[in-house]
Amino acid sequence: MFIISVACFLLLVSDATEVLYVNTTVGESPVLPCILMLPATTDLKLLRFYWQDDRAYVLYSFNKGKEMHEHVHELYRDRIAAFPQDITEGNISVKLENTTLEDNQRVFQAFGAVFDSRGRNRFEFEFRQICQMTLHVAVPYKNISLNVNKETMTAVCTTQRGFPKPLVKWRLHSQHLLDLQDVNTTALQDPHDHLYTLTSTIVIPGGPDPSVTCLVHNPTLNVTLIAMLNNGEAETSRPSLAGALMVLDSQANHTPFFPT
Ligand SMILES: *[C@@H]1O[C@H](CO)[C@@H](O)[C@H](O)[C@H]1NC(C)=O
Ligand SMILES: *[C@@H]1O[C@H](CO)[C@@H](O)[C@H](O)[C@H]1NC(C)=O
Ligand SMILES: *[C@@H]1O[C@H](CO)[C@@H](O)[C@H](O)[C@H]1NC(C)=O
Ligand SMILES: *[C@@H]1O[C@H](CO)[C@@H](O)[C@H](O)[C@H]1NC(C)=O
Ligand SMILES: *[C@@H]1O[C@H](CO)[C@@H](O)[C@H](O)[C@H]1NC(C)=O
Ligand SMILES: *[C@@H]1O[C@H](CO)[C@@H](O)[C@H](O)[C@H]1NC(C)=O
Repeated sequence: MFIISVACFLLLVSDATEVLYVNTTVGESPVLPCILMLPATTDLKLLRFYWQDDRAYVLYSFNKGKEMHEHVHELYRDRIAAFPQDITEGNISVKLENTTLEDNQRVFQAFGAVFDSRGRNRFEFEFRQICQMTLHVAVPYKNISLNVNKETMTAVCTTQRGFPKPLVKWRLHSQHLLDLQDVNTTALQDPHDHLYTLTSTIVIPGGPDPSVTCLVHNPTLNVTLIAMLNNGEAETSRPSLAGALMVLDSQANHTPFFPT
């Protein structure tokens, strides 16, 4: 009896590379990955699994070889695609289509059970949770800009309409990281679409060549927008300038982001 229950347990745990969160961009259709370790010969007619969210709304339901559309909550109807050709391999992943910020922070769980081939409604394995993951949905920030006002000796970095709230860092002379108390950052959130617009201001120390760099990091996408101003030129005639602006994508350019 003991040996049987251990074997059942091993067959139902998902594999070692367990996914705890899935990060995606609004409008994309991420796969929610889940693998059920099935014996190679399992007949799909003996398999039952379903996915639900943290409100217990069902995303997808599969019972003995058939999709059970009637169990699916209306919020997920027509938004979930399974991969029937992969289910025999124990791959019970589903794809969530057209994500919105309403899906952000949802926790998704997959439960599975295998029926006993000998009798009706007797389980080889009772329902068990196979996978659980949190979905993080993001909107990339756009239009980063950096302006230096040489009269007030302030630098202002702005970026528009992204999600979630970004982390802002400033560098002076390419290596010195500013303390948070020297930085005034306000992130305004649009009450309708929840997107943030950010303004960050620092007072730059006097002296020649005040080169400044502003880094705006989207934690969900792990992307950093970078604006640099190399201010060596005689630009003093204009109080506000935005020359030598560079916008980089940290993933494309391998620019490291330095957390606090
Ligand atoms: C499971 O199936 C999905 C959809 O075909 C695929 O993207 C994913 O890589 C598969 N996972 C494994 C571990 O095979
Ligand atoms: C995706 O969702 C948005 C907002 O709910 C909707 O306007 C759009 O038509 C949807 N697109 C598809 C392909 O379902
Ligand atoms: C970003 O800038 C482009 C071109 O200047 C403009 O068309 C677009 O509306 C701006 N985006 C936002 C979110 O402000
Ligand atoms: C920070 O900036 C906001 C708007 O840009 C301003 O209203 C506020 O007074 C500033 N706070 C400090 C401590 O400078
Ligand atoms: C996914 O998003 C979460 C929440 O923003 C973040 O903590 C995590 O580091 C992100 N994962 C990756 C791989 O970027
Ligand atoms: C974010 O991306 C950098 C490389 O651009 C990588 O070194 C780091 O591990 C990533 N962070 C997470 C949480 O995935």
